[in-house]
Amino acid sequence: MKRLGVMLSGRGSNFEAIADRIAEGKLAAEIAVVISNRPDAPGLEAARRRGLKAVSLPSRGLDREEYDRQTIAELKANNVDFVILAGYMRLLSATFIREFPLRVLNIHPSLLPAFTGLDAQHQAFDYGVRFSGCTVHFVDEHLDNGPIILQAAVPVECDDTAETLSARILQQEHRIYSEAIGIVVNGKFRVEGRRVVLS
Ligand code: GRF
Repeated sequence: MKRLGVMLSGRGSNFEAIADRIAEGKLAAEIAVVISNRPDAPGLEAARRRGLKAVSLPSRGLDREEYDRQTIAELKANNVDFVILAGYMRLLSATFIREFPLRVLNIHPSLLPAFTGLDAQHQAFDYGVRFSGCTVHFVDEHLDNGPIILQAAVPVECDDTAETLSARILQQEHRIYSEAIGIVVNGKFRVEGRRVVLS
């Protein structure tokens, strides 16, 4: 069974959706550890309630390399095979990526490469796009970059607000993240340049 290390900074609804799929037997993996750079992240508390190992590693005052050395050590101590970023609000260093090549996944609430960075749903709404959505991708050292594993498109309705759009995107996030993790942990893909070819 592949071991997942989840990293988060906030609410943790994507983490919970993944934990639910595992509990239902729909995703064959186990969560070895949940790490947060924010000690007060609700996602950490949710992990504890589920009886999972939850580790708070405050990032305040540490530079990227220094902090990443701590998270790498914690992930390795827990024999993690794949790192799942679930609302983790920090860029990873090249050192981190080198430790886990093609083994770090992220979910972003837009159809990349559109609307990278913070508040992607609001950015898309304000831009006036007819479709937005979400993307699961491999992580490299650049923001919201890296080969795309899965995407889901979500239409923007005339009576949407940024909030109602965000809520529908989030439903799709909860669906495709577990699906993408399943593909990756089962090795059902190959990477050709930027393209992730599913098998
Ligand atoms: C999600 O919108 C995700 O796409 C983005 O951060 C948010 C995290 O939400 N990367 P949650 O903490 O999983 O509820």
